[in-house]
Amino acid sequence: MPEIKGKKILITAGPTHEAIDPVRFISNHSSGKMGIAIAEEALASGAEVTLICGPSNVSSSKEIKRINVQSAQNMFDAVMTEQATHDVLILSAAVADYRPKFVAENKIKKKDSKLTIELEPTPDILASLGERKRADQLLVGFALETDNELDNAKGKLKKKDCDLIVLNSLQDAGAGFGHDTNKVTILDRHNNISTFELKTKAEVAKDILRTIIAFK
Ligand code: C5P
Repeated sequence: MPEIKGKKILITAGPTHEAIDPVRFISNHSSGKMGIAIAEEALASGAEVTLICGPSNVSSSKEIKRINVQSAQNMFDAVMTEQATHDVLILSAAVADYRPKFVAENKIKKKDSKLTIELEPTPDILASLGERKRADQLLVGFALETDNELDNAKGKLKKKDCDLIVLNSLQDAGAGFGHDTNKVTILDRHNNISTFELKTKAEVAKDILRTIIAFK
């Protein structure tokens, strides 16, 4: 991709909330900072940006078309509606992998007996895009691994048919959830691997966009 300017870029960011009942949900520690930093950097580079964001306190520039969503299903629906009109799809959201199979209509009452909540898988947005992306679209996934990082990320890249995958390690101090810094390794479908130092998320966003531009 020769340049970002004038391209339409879709980015997912943040966590998702999977309802248990009207007042409770399952989620994770994602802040949305990394995805929103990519959205801001893409905007600054002259792209037209759509941000599909789970619940996050982080604000974004008004020039970014932001679609706020709650659940993995909401995020899936919004991405599928938007994806065809975009050149680059960057999926940095920490989407819940499981959701309660049944959502209670009323608040679940506390009892003395134990409570079991059955979970079912959520739709995998990245894998669905991998199946349907056009040859002129570039698909970028994220992977957050705690063990066998490179092998797991390579497996994910192949399985979900991505062009690039950004690996975050939870083993690096200052990297990942909630921090303003991150340390990433970027793998591409031709087995090229680029490693980067610990940097601010704004600088990491620049590295990710530069890698997208350089990808052939
Ligand atoms: O398999 P895993 O959840 O670790 O894959 C992470 C990548 O897949 C991220 O890019 C994330 O945004 C995406 N993903 C998704 N939909 C899901 C789960 C993960 O798009 N239900």
